[in-house]
Amino acid sequence: MIGLTARPQNNNLIRPGEIWPDTEGKHINAHGGGILFYNGIYYWFGESRLPRTEKDRTRYGVGCYSSKDLLNWKNEGLALRVINDTSTLLQPGCVIERPKVIYNKKTKKFIMWFHHELKGQGYRAALTGVAVSDNIAGPYTYIKSLRPNAGVWPVNFPEEFKNLSVNESDIKGKPDERIKAVKEGLYIRRDFTGGQMARDMTLFVDRNGKAYHIHSSEENMTLHFSELTDDYLNFTGIYYRVLPAESNEAPALFFAKGKYYMFSSGTTGWKPNPARLAVADKVTGEWMSLGNPGRGTEEENKITFGSQSTFVLSPKDKKNIYIFMGDRWTPENLADSRHIWLPVEWEDGIPVIKWYKEWNIKELK
Ligand code: GAL
Repeated sequence: MIGLTARPQNNNLIRPGEIWPDTEGKHINAHGGGILFYNGIYYWFGESRLPRTEKDRTRYGVGCYSSKDLLNWKNEGLALRVINDTSTLLQPGCVIERPKVIYNKKTKKFIMWFHHELKGQGYRAALTGVAVSDNIAGPYTYIKSLRPNAGVWPVNFPEEFKNLSVNESDIKGKPDERIKAVKEGLYIRRDFTGGQMARDMTLFVDRNGKAYHIHSSEENMTLHFSELTDDYLNFTGIYYRVLPAESNEAPALFFAKGKYYMFSSGTTGWKPNPARLAVADKVTGEWMSLGNPGRGTEEENKITFGSQSTFVLSPKDKKNIYIFMGDRWTPENLADSRHIWLPVEWEDGIPVIKWYKEWNIKELK
C-alpha cells in the first residue's frame, strides 16, 4: 500500500525552507552538498544524516539523488557508506560533512572529497577524505583521509613568517594579538609537520581542468586553496592562503562574467550568520571581500535568510544563470535540515541574493 508520505511527487517550484520531497515523497537527505552534471542528468551529493528513529549507524554516509529538471529528485541511495570495521577511519560513528564530487576526464573516474572527523573525537581530527568510483552514483571506494600539505609552505606565505617564534600560549586571552599571530602564520607553523587542518570544504575545477580543494584551515580562521594532482586524488603541495584570519567557512565558488566569486559564512557552528562574498581574477587569488551579498531586511541579512552556503549551481541549459544553495541546519535532527536555494541576481555588477518564498527555475533568465 502506498502511504501518504510515499506519494509520487511532482515539484514545479523551488520552495526554500520547506520539506523538499524526493520522488518517493521523502525529504531530500543530502545536506552540505553539491551537484555534478553528467550525461544529461544532475546528481546531488550531500550528507545523508541518520533520521532520529534510525538505530543502525551503518546506514550513514553520502546520499546521492538524480534529476533531469532540478526539481524532482530520485534517491540513488548512499554513494559512500561508512564501513562496519573498527580498523578503518570510516567506521560508524565518524562524521562525514560537505561531500563534493568531480569528474576526471583523463581517468574517467568520479572523485569524492569530504570533511572527515573521527569517531569519538569531536571535530579535532580536521581531516579530508577521498573516495573514487567508475560510476557517478557510486558505490564509491574509500581511499584515505589526511591533513593536506604536510611539510610545505603556502605559495603566498612571506619568507619572514616562517621563523616567527610566537606560539599559542603567548596569545591566550588576547584576541587582537591572536588575529595578528594567525595572519602571520601561527597555525601554519604549528601544523607544518603533520599537515594543515581541513574542515568545511568544497571542490572547484578551473576552466583549464585544474582542480582545487578549498577548505577552512588554521582553526577555521583561514581558507586554504590546495591544488589537486591531475587525477584529483592527491594534493600537489601547492596551496594558497585566502583571507587570512578572517574566519570563513562554507565556501562555495563559481566563475561568472570573467571573475571568480566565492560565497562563504562566518564561524558560528549550526547557527546562521551573515554571508560573505569575495571576488578574484584568478582562482588562486588575490581574493577581495565584497561584504554581505544578502539583499533582504537587516534581520534576514544577519542570518542569510536562515542559511549557510554550500554550493553554487549553474544549470547546463541556461547561460549565465547561477543558483545559491545553502543549508538551514536543524542541529537536533540534521536529516530534517532544509535546503535554501535562491537565484543569484546581479546588482551593480555584483552577485546578490534575495528571498523568495517560492520561485520558478524555468523562469530564470
Ligand atoms: C558549521 C559547519 C558545518 C558543521 C557545523 C558543526 O560551522 O559549516 O558544516 O561542521 O559547523 O558545528
